[in-house]
Amino acid sequence: MSDAINASAVNAGSSTAVSAGGRLQWSNRLTFILAAAGSAVGLGNIWKFPYITGENGGGAFVLVYLACILVIGIPVMMAEIMIGRRSQQNPTGAMAAMAKEAGANPLWKGVGWMAILCGFLILSFYTVISGWTLSYTVTSLSGAFSNIAPDAAGAMFGGMLADPAQLLLWSTVVVVTTMYIVSRGLHAGLEKAINYMMPLLVALVLVMVGYATSTGHFVDAIEFLFTPDFSKLSTEAVLVALGHAFFTLSLASGAIMTYGSYVSKDTSIAKTSIMIGVFDTAVALLAGLAIFPIVFAYGLEPGAGPGLIFVTLPIAFGQMPYGTLFGTLFFVMLSMAALTSAISMIEPTVSWLVEKRKMSRGKASAVVGLILWTLGLGTVFSFNIWQDATLFGKTFFDAIDFLTANLMMPLGGLLVALFAAWVMKSNVVKDELGLGGGLLFTAWQFVMRFITPIAIIVVFLNALGFIKL
Ligand code: PHE
Repeated sequence: MSDAINASAVNAGSSTAVSAGGRLQWSNRLTFILAAAGSAVGLGNIWKFPYITGENGGGAFVLVYLACILVIGIPVMMAEIMIGRRSQQNPTGAMAAMAKEAGANPLWKGVGWMAILCGFLILSFYTVISGWTLSYTVTSLSGAFSNIAPDAAGAMFGGMLADPAQLLLWSTVVVVTTMYIVSRGLHAGLEKAINYMMPLLVALVLVMVGYATSTGHFVDAIEFLFTPDFSKLSTEAVLVALGHAFFTLSLASGAIMTYGSYVSKDTSIAKTSIMIGVFDTAVALLAGLAIFPIVFAYGLEPGAGPGLIFVTLPIAFGQMPYGTLFGTLFFVMLSMAALTSAISMIEPTVSWLVEKRKMSRGKASAVVGLILWTLGLGTVFSFNIWQDATLFGKTFFDAIDFLTANLMMPLGGLLVALFAAWVMKSNVVKDELGLGGGLLFTAWQFVMRFITPIAIIVVFLNALGFIKL
């Protein structure tokens, strides 16, 4: 019964099918790919990837990030989808069921707990940044980007950040919208909308890349992004790259595991994970190619931080023909992309409250929304009245970002890798993944048994100063 409630939340309204066990599922492979891609592609690709790349010196950081996606992110994604699908439950239930099946310690359930908490904490700042994109949609529509000078673009962004009431207003709109959608269980409708939004977002990013080629600094951007200079790579940068690989693929946060629980048996987990990973990476790299030419053309600072796209893109929209139209469309699409990610982040918490605490979906959404909104105040104030209130040199926003992306996610990913490769029975895993029984499976298992855990542990210890590479 609880499964049905949970699944219907994701599938209500359209494109559902029922598995032999009676559980609702994505109607076909494409629906799942779109939903997972909708979760993966979001602010992480377009807002976060460019600014952390800028802060961490470019090429070498990008290379480490790509390596993390390939050898850690995609294999862990396969494991998460597998655990979700085999257990058909929310993350805590899923980990408990799989541990039981393998005859392992029930404490593995804690991995599910940590994931749910992590998704929740991320959402507390994600809603605030989504609020920035909504606010910029309106600003763009007003024509304010038209011929805007770099200084003025910086001042416009600074003005928004300095105004807590404005930030709060927009993040409230995001929280209410997200929780409304989650309470209604309209995901399938939303995932359908992604059918149109995703291609449009990609098309708009391509328009921006096209514009960027006209700035005369496209080659500088390519060099910045793709010529690794390892002397610029700090130990913390490696941890940031690793954390971002998890963040951008929505791993270790319950999102992919929960969506995986609605996947049908005839979907190849391996193929879909690779497709999602490749698509997500392509969007991030394109965003970089759109933004850095503008940064260099206007003498802006690549390491400007979280405001990078909010300062660079208005300048570009202000120069290009039909910039008001493109600018408005772009920020609308980005807000929608953020919304589909936000929904996937909170679904595990809400479905847990519904399944385990027997709350109604409406009540669960309201409670979660209220807590989220309150926690979001910390991020809102980080950019103005609390900007000097720091803990270990980090504002509230920086601290939550560091705690989730750089600590909880790699740790969660490590535990998932160990669980899937060492604790679960090999023949079960082989059967689920769709890699066949040959070399590919052996390679996956080898990576997950040794490479992934060792890499994560080394990066951790190194960044935290316990070992020196
Ligand atoms: N992957 C999303 C993005 O890149 C963020 C996200 C993290 C979504 C965790 C769900 C869970 O924007």
